[in-house]
Amino acid sequence: MKEINVFLVLMGSLVMAITVQGQHHLWMVQTIPSGYCADRNCRNVIKSDVIVHGLWPVNSSDFTLKGPCDETKISEASPDLSNFSPPPDMYKFWRTLTMSRDEDFWEHEWTDHGTCQSALPQSYFSMGISLYKRIDLASKLSNMKRSSHNAQDFRNKISQIVDNKEVMLRCAYVHGTTTIFLSEVIVCVDMTGQHFIDCNKSNKSKYDNCGHNLITYA
Ligand SMILES: *[C@@H]1O[C@H](CO)[C@@H](O)[C@H](O)[C@H]1NC(C)=O
Ligand SMILES: *[C@@H]1O[C@H](CO)[C@@H](O)[C@H](O)[C@H]1NC(C)=O
Ligand SMILES: *[C@@H]1O[C@H](CO)[C@@H](O)[C@H](O)[C@H]1NC(C)=O
Repeated sequence: MKEINVFLVLMGSLVMAITVQGQHHLWMVQTIPSGYCADRNCRNVIKSDVIVHGLWPVNSSDFTLKGPCDETKISEASPDLSNFSPPPDMYKFWRTLTMSRDEDFWEHEWTDHGTCQSALPQSYFSMGISLYKRIDLASKLSNMKRSSHNAQDFRNKISQIVDNKEVMLRCAYVHGTTTIFLSEVIVCVDMTGQHFIDCNKSNKSKYDNCGHNLITYA
């Protein structure tokens, strides 16, 4: 009887979490350090062309769910992700540009986004790393490096990498210059992390801000 009660309570919170939060799919957000740091102060210099920013649950109109969503999940990773052993590649590919420690950045990503989906930290962060390797953006964009292209050329190129699905681009508009830098690339993936899907560029999504401008991947 006790087991059944525990089971029901667990099921109840799972169903609650999914329906209340409205999670629909994930944004795999990747950062181009040179572009991301063009309009803000970055404390860390990272040589990689592309790094992971995060894996963000969004609703069907592509609004990110604002964490912390599930308070009980915060203890899984806080205060210092102590129960979590980061996949070794996280130290290479999931880096912070603005915080003093990568671990602080992961904790922030977990609290703000990870708690809005149902996987535990180990599989959540591993999913991000697998997607990073599978997309392999830096090598696929290498021939577009250090020159200007119409933003739509970038969207098309990246779309081809992810089964021709709609993607989103974020740009840095630097005050006092006409150069627009490619800052982040967002591809959409289902909740299992296995299948790319179209990002829903409903008018309200403010993230895709590159328009049809000439943009630079530096
Ligand atoms: C995209 O977002 C719009 C506006 O919220 C919504 O009506 C539509 O159903 C969404 N499309 C998909 C495929 O989820
Ligand atoms: C998605 O979230 C936004 C912002 O919270 C909300 O305005 C919108 O109605 C939501 N869309 C759906 C389909 O739940
Ligand atoms: C999107 O925005 C444009 C320009 O603001 C508007 O003309 C159009 O009706 C909008 N589409 C939807 C589906 O809201």
